[in-house]
Amino acid sequence: MTREEALKLVKQRIRNRNLVKHCLAVEAAMRALAPRFGGDPERWGLAGLLHDLDYEETKDTPEKHALVTVEELRKMGFDDEEILNAILAHAEKKEPETPMEWALHAVDPLTGLIVAAALVHPEKLSGLSTRNVLNRYKEKSFARSASRETIAKCEKLGMTLEEFVDVVLSAMKGIREELGL
Ligand SMILES: [Fe+2]
Repeated sequence: MTREEALKLVKQRIRNRNLVKHCLAVEAAMRALAPRFGGDPERWGLAGLLHDLDYEETKDTPEKHALVTVEELRKMGFDDEEILNAILAHAEKKEPETPMEWALHAVDPLTGLIVAAALVHPEKLSGLSTRNVLNRYKEKSFARSASRETIAKCEKLGMTLEEFVDVVLSAMKGIREELGL
């Protein structure tokens, strides 16, 4: 599947524009992380772009989240098992094992924390520093739904929280316009 095909699929299936932006943010972060683990940025990006494909239809049945996406992708002939497993792992349908799986798992809530931090920053994303994000991370009442525990799993990638935030933040800054931030 090409990036273009995946994006088309995402736009067909996800009506909420903020959710489409979330998928783009996770894609950018995954692409940026891939080379550190000898991964292919195209494949890591696809995992990020496609990870929440069924989000809207499974929002009332979270036990099906990711399972629907994987089934659908398989039906389309998509057979990149590592990507399918990463999609399952981000929704806790599988224990993360590979770097791609851990990365998707930990990146997902971090992009949410960064979006929330950017929205309340006077210069939005462009003015946000790694330090700002780390301070927001420590503020437990800020963007509560962004699980700090899951973000901290970046340790499974051998990365400190600071390094991890740095890579994800700069990847998101690179698509600031698409994110509208
Ligand atoms: Fe997500």
